[in-house]
Amino acid sequence: MAKVILKNVSKSFGKTQVVKNIDLEIKDKEFCVLVGPSGCGKTTTLRMVAGLEEITSGEIYIDDTLVNDQAPKDRDIAMVFQSYALYPHMTVYDNMAFGLKLKGYPKEEIKERVEKAAEQLEITKLLQRLPKELSGGQKQRVAVGRCIVRKPKVFLFDEPLSNLDAKLRVQMRAELKKLHQRLQTTIIYVTHDQIEAMTMGDKIVVMKDGIIHQAADPITVYYKPTDKFIAGFIGTPPMNFMECTVIKRDGKIYLDEGTFAVTPKEEIVDKLEAYINKKVILGIRPEDIYDRFYYSKARTEGKTLMATIEIVEPVGSEKYLFLTTGKNTFTSRVEAQNKAEVNQDIEVVFDMKKAHVFDKETEKTIS
Ligand SMILES: Nc1ncnc2c1ncn2[C@@H]1O[C@H](COP(=O)(O)OP(=O)(O)O)[C@@H](O)[C@H]1O
Ligand SMILES: [Mg+2]
Repeated sequence: MAKVILKNVSKSFGKTQVVKNIDLEIKDKEFCVLVGPSGCGKTTTLRMVAGLEEITSGEIYIDDTLVNDQAPKDRDIAMVFQSYALYPHMTVYDNMAFGLKLKGYPKEEIKERVEKAAEQLEITKLLQRLPKELSGGQKQRVAVGRCIVRKPKVFLFDEPLSNLDAKLRVQMRAELKKLHQRLQTTIIYVTHDQIEAMTMGDKIVVMKDGIIHQAADPITVYYKPTDKFIAGFIGTPPMNFMECTVIKRDGKIYLDEGTFAVTPKEEIVDKLEAYINKKVILGIRPEDIYDRFYYSKARTEGKTLMATIEIVEPVGSEKYLFLTTGKNTFTSRVEAQNKAEVNQDIEVVFDMKKAHVFDKETEKTIS
């Protein structure tokens, strides 16, 4: 059992508040990812959980124990940093054994734990090597191994993959996920990479400027973002945003972009009554904008509009079309066999059931 609870936690450095009244509950065995742009307070939050940073106000509980005044060593937590911080003059074995030796564990038990961890991480063959004889990915595994041997209640990871090349990152992503399934330990994982967050987290906590904007499972965050920041931060290529005016014509509500008007989804029509003649932000993901030409007839009830293709970006399995209405530019994600070419005009369909509308002032989702 190891759940972690943050209650109204804040952190200030001098007069600057960098973490602002955050509430968060991380369940036992959960893989929780804190994600957000650089400087939003992820590392600070993690360090407060670890006890490496004093909290300015609020409470942190690990397993129902208030740990505000507990020293890091008493919290039963292990942290893996972006720089692996291995001891260069020690072998992999000694690097992994070091913490246990300090704590006075018997030699036999240390050996047993190190060998088991090495097996789980598939680094048994590397135990006698020095860090300088390891690749980036191997170093990363040793850093994780050093934590596993301690059998902590909670693992904290701070951007552990950001020093690896893209391919290795994808591989290690999967390995860390497997490891989590095997160890069944609570993990709090920090990254600025939204793909890492989406692919790894049971829960993702999106932060900006020291505030939690949304905490939910990845699918909810992707399909039901609570505000424009989340909508734009999660997903590649990112969601398209267009300023529209809410208008009412013959008793029907439309979102008028200037060069076209579309019908919002039924669920929010009542809410939009309050916005008539006001500006809102229409948000639609690239995969929800279809090329009319390839779009099945059965689904063509959506209103079409004309746009000009500015750039075609083939990425192999699909293509991204960069389009303009003259007023707004936006991206559409289409099949690889799409024949659209630069400078062509194209008729596209917005799948309005999947579109989002945001209040222009608060940037909150109108739902
Ligand atoms: N020891 C410190 N003293 C002063 N400011 C700090 C300190 N540590 C972090 N900060 C500031 O707090 C903010 C959040 O930092 P951090 O938690 O490291 O962000 P992230 O990990 O999300 O990139 C940043 O503006 C950073 O400059
Ligand atoms: Mg950081």
